[in-house]
Amino acid sequence: MFLAGLLLAGGLLQLTSAQNVVDLSGTGWTLTNTQGNVTVPGSFPSLVHLDLHAAGVIPDPYNDTNEIDLRWVAWSNWTYTSKPIRGLLNHSESSWLVFDGLDTFATVQLCDQVVGTANNQFRQWQFDITEALQACINDPVVIINFSSAPATANSIASEPGQETWPDGVQGLFEFDNRWFIRKEQSDFGWDWGPAFAPAGPWQPAYLVQFKPKDGVYVLNTDIDIHREGQINHLQADQTKPWVVNASIDYLGTLPKGSSLTMDIKDSQNKSIIASGSLSGITANGNTITGITTVDADAPKIWWPTGLGEQNLYYITVNIVDINNKTLATVTKRSGFRTIILNQTNITDAQLAQGIAPGANWHFEVNGHEFYAKGSNFIPPDAFWPRVTEDRMNKLFDSIVNGNQNMLRVWSSGAYLPDFIYDIADERGVLLWSEFEFSDALYPVNKDFLDNVAAEITYQVRRLNHHPSLALWAGGNELESLELPLAAESDPDGYAKYVGEYEKLFISLILPIVYENSRSISYTPTSTGNGYTKIDFSLPVPMVERYLNITSGSYYGDSDYYNYDSSQAFNLSNYPVNRFANEFGFHSMPSVQTWQQAVADENLQFNNNVILLRNHHYPPGGLSTNTTNSAKGMGEMTTAVERYYPIPSRPDSVANFSVWCLATQRFQADMYKSEIQFYRRGSGRPERQLGSLYWQLEDIWQAPSWAGIEYDGRWKVLHYVARDIYKPVIVAPYWNSSTGDLNVTVISDLWESISGTVNLTWYNLKGELLSNNAKTPSSVPFHVGPLNITDIISTNIKDLSIPDLKDAILVLSLEASGHLPNNDTEVQFTHENFFTPVYLNEAKLVNPVLKSSYDNTNKKYVLEATKGVALYTWLDYPAGFAGYFDENSFLLIPGKPKAIGFTEMDGKSVEGVSVQTLWDQSYHE
Ligand SMILES: *[C@@H]1O[C@H](CO)[C@@H](O)[C@H](O)[C@H]1NC(C)=O
Ligand SMILES: *[C@@H]1O[C@H](CO)[C@@H](O)[C@H](O)[C@H]1NC(C)=O
Ligand SMILES: *[C@@H]1O[C@H](CO)[C@@H](O)[C@H](O)[C@H]1NC(C)=O
Ligand SMILES: *[C@@H]1O[C@H](CO)[C@@H](O)[C@H](O)[C@H]1NC(C)=O
Ligand SMILES: *[C@@H]1O[C@H](CO)[C@@H](O)[C@H](O)[C@H]1NC(C)=O
Ligand SMILES: *[C@@H]1O[C@H](CO)[C@@H](O)[C@H](O)[C@H]1NC(C)=O
Ligand SMILES: *[C@@H]1O[C@H](CO)[C@@H](O)[C@H](O)[C@H]1NC(C)=O
Repeated sequence: MFLAGLLLAGGLLQLTSAQNVVDLSGTGWTLTNTQGNVTVPGSFPSLVHLDLHAAGVIPDPYNDTNEIDLRWVAWSNWTYTSKPIRGLLNHSESSWLVFDGLDTFATVQLCDQVVGTANNQFRQWQFDITEALQACINDPVVIINFSSAPATANSIASEPGQETWPDGVQGLFEFDNRWFIRKEQSDFGWDWGPAFAPAGPWQPAYLVQFKPKDGVYVLNTDIDIHREGQINHLQADQTKPWVVNASIDYLGTLPKGSSLTMDIKDSQNKSIIASGSLSGITANGNTITGITTVDADAPKIWWPTGLGEQNLYYITVNIVDINNKTLATVTKRSGFRTIILNQTNITDAQLAQGIAPGANWHFEVNGHEFYAKGSNFIPPDAFWPRVTEDRMNKLFDSIVNGNQNMLRVWSSGAYLPDFIYDIADERGVLLWSEFEFSDALYPVNKDFLDNVAAEITYQVRRLNHHPSLALWAGGNELESLELPLAAESDPDGYAKYVGEYEKLFISLILPIVYENSRSISYTPTSTGNGYTKIDFSLPVPMVERYLNITSGSYYGDSDYYNYDSSQAFNLSNYPVNRFANEFGFHSMPSVQTWQQAVADENLQFNNNVILLRNHHYPPGGLSTNTTNSAKGMGEMTTAVERYYPIPSRPDSVANFSVWCLATQRFQADMYKSEIQFYRRGSGRPERQLGSLYWQLEDIWQAPSWAGIEYDGRWKVLHYVARDIYKPVIVAPYWNSSTGDLNVTVISDLWESISGTVNLTWYNLKGELLSNNAKTPSSVPFHVGPLNITDIISTNIKDLSIPDLKDAILVLSLEASGHLPNNDTEVQFTHENFFTPVYLNEAKLVNPVLKSSYDNTNKKYVLEATKGVALYTWLDYPAGFAGYFDENSFLLIPGKPKAIGFTEMDGKSVEGVSVQTLWDQSYHE
């Protein structure tokens, strides 16, 4: 019986003396290569590149073209050797080495005996060293040999009988054959990042020794919180009690009759909301599991940011013996929420509301639909051990302040460490999480499947307690790209490839997710048309819809890229679907970021160093031919030339800097146009409920789709996305060929809201157009929950605009209402604008900015005095970190703006500068 609200009798549970656990982290390791020309101090956890750089053997891997020059590091084998391990027991019943992660092909020796091997970066490894340790108990040394991952991948690929795929199916970036190995796939190169193929002990490790009757050592803990009766992919009954299932994987031996107890405390450690023994105890292999229920109203619910509070609880689970003696204790911070990915067929009730037939594809948190706003998260660094909590806290600051409530943690990548999920739990950022498979088909031989099964089991159990975990997806672009490529390249072999895909991503992985979680939905592919049924009696328990679709119906989510910039603002090209999980266009990072890695003399668009750092398009192997890169660079410059004034500064670094900014302006405009389009879909037949752009942040200093640069600096995109992800927005929709113009108000609030939009036409000198160009100057609106309302529907030709090249419509929204689950009344404001020509044709006027600093309020005060200032951009020099209250904004003469700066590293920013679109072209 589990008693809610009772205090645990403190004296009842006595703590045992735990096992002897020696943390192998820290210094005192030595790193050598097998060629024998390098011996340097090693740290732990670490990666070879980091230790070589720290020792001065290699330059900063991120600088210049070092990515290419350092390939010898990836082709070499490396050895980490510990100093003699101290603090061991002379007599133990058993001893183990536990590695939380080895990257990737490792042979572990103790006392010159091989004690284990590893071949998967994403698994935890335990090696029994009881016997081996006897041989050198006074001076035990651990040696870990890492063999080259690219060499190992190539050698697996050339094994007789190994699987092959038709040409053009497998996404090849730099190093080949990544699909044969369980290692971060982007380590072998991707179109936004470098290919270092690092190796090393990237996670902590421990030497664990047991005395007789010494309890157990906890390896991994699965805590699953769901509503009674809940099934992963179906709506839960929100009135039912919570079920808490705890399952602990351990080392050691449990005495017969062991069981579990639990207490659940609020995050201030003030009150215990539930405590007692778990029921239904089962012990299988090295796992003990038990279950309990918690009254429906005992805990406060966890909500994503913007939708309510992030209530968190500490859950402590004790493994106890028959006398209630504690054998092990583990505490996890968790939260109570349900989250599902709803992919069920559109119901009659939905059809009656005007929703088009087909299937749903949206998330529901605690039984509520919501609009998912966010982006795609890639590895924040090529070398994980240097990803710190401080850096991630700053990144999540930017995410939450960017009005984003969901990230897709892209495969592949690595499964994020718990501390990042902890930050997401605190900040209310949902993490749609993926297994590490991407842009390739994968082998399905038994060894590979067994290896994957162990990986998935470990990761699903490790991460399941985090309330920010929103979804598990099998892999990236598998149904939307890989299977169609296979069909095209090898029509006869297609059925085989679909069969293999289903074997791995459905028959193998789906049951593992469901066996370890009742709370998380699973989809085998990031982008697809969803499933038609789930039936565990079938050999392939999820029946995918694939192309069994009816026109006029909508299914699934979309992944859309179009590098022909002439189509960038053509709304009729954007996908109409239930959810947009990837879309974008690349841009340059700021000149400040380039200067971290590249010398000034190389800062030119066609410079070889710049070209070699741009991986869109990838070379498709280890060639240093830059033809593909030049094509990607050309897409950026063409886009700028097509729509904006062309930069041309006499000073070459200054010119490069303006060009970088210009590519960011195009990028931001294009994303804004798409996000406005997708959000409008929330009130249209497609009932579109999510927009996650590609990509949140950068892995290094290079051109990419990111909105946040490697050191945390916001590009134009992140500011613009923050603006267009506000809860209530007003947006213009223009068809540049027909002249049709609609203005729509969009709200993702959960209540109806009323307000006003002011519409004002100016010429570019900032003077009012007469009679407001036959446009109402103010329109009241009422918009329903998660809905839209069109406020203007006209054609440019029907307005009286004297000169289309000299006109701008300013849209300004005001409304008051409430955020979901919040009683405080909030003023919602949003400003947007529209010009009836692209800005390279507009008769821009020098706005002659007046700027000053308001010391009392700590704000930059900016005012345009002679003309409209477009894309007003505040910039700060290298060496500072933070973001402005607003950026890339419009200034109308006579309407000053005061803008503050949020410092992210406690250093007062100095040297802030300002420029506008007028400054993009050169004026003597
Ligand atoms: C070590 O040897 C490799 C070739 O085997 C070479 O590429 C590398 O530069 C050498 N490194 C040092 C530090 O001597
Ligand atoms: C690296 O180790 C592998 C496997 O142990 C071996 O086959 C290979 O020859 C080694 N390569 C080098 C460069 O030492
Ligand atoms: C999916 O969403 C629709 C619309 O909100 C709802 O009617 C249906 O019950 C949901 N299905 C599930 C399984 O949650
Ligand atoms: C162990 O604790 C449980 C619940 O706290 C209690 O019901 C049981 O009697 C205790 N057993 C012993 C042997 O003290
Ligand atoms: C959903 O609709 C499809 C047709 O698109 C149908 O084949 C399938 O059986 C339906 N699923 C359920 C659970 O009703
Ligand atoms: C229709 O669905 C079935 C079952 O998933 C699949 O085998 C078939 O290939 C699909 N047909 C098309 C055209 O996608
Ligand atoms: C990396 O390059 C930048 C720019 O040339 C330089 O300032 C910096 O010192 C370099 N860093 C290292 C570690 O070489």
